Amino acid sequence: MKIALGSDHAGFTLKQLLLEKLKSEGYEVLDLGTDSLESVDYPDFGEAVGKAVAGGEADFGIACCGTGIGISIAANKVKGIRAAVVHDVSSAMLAREHNDANVLCFGARLIGDVVAFDSVDAFLSATFEGGRHEKRIAKLSLLDEKNE
Ligand code: RB5
Repeated sequence: MKIALGSDHAGFTLKQLLLEKLKSEGYEVLDLGTDSLESVDYPDFGEAVGKAVAGGEADFGIACCGTGIGISIAANKVKGIRAAVVHDVSSAMLAREHNDANVLCFGARLIGDVVAFDSVDAFLSATFEGGRHEKRIAKLSLLDEKNE
């Protein structure tokens, strides 16, 4: 499984930790930057992660900024992306099970490393439940079409 990773400067340190964790667990990782603590703009990296996932270069994306909010808004503007900001393990699991989220976002200034690590594990090991959630995901896709 291939995971696209991206962050702004505020999410850089957490991104690097997640990169090492995922690599050590045998995931293929596509690091889309940023590459340092120098100030950059989160829309650029949210877009890059979104495009990598929507374009099939990666199976899932993980994006980090200070709050997770800006980078998730950016990723969600890419057609086909369902990005979820999470602060706990249960939300990470439910983002996959109910929302079929394909990008996981963290607020690196708000979440502890251990919770972020556990949330990634929960996200990547959960599966979309389908069933009653299917038609809701279809409606999200329709929103993409309507607002093209
Ligand atoms: C950068 O200072 C900060 O605004 C950004 O990382 C993020 O929190 C925006 O949503």
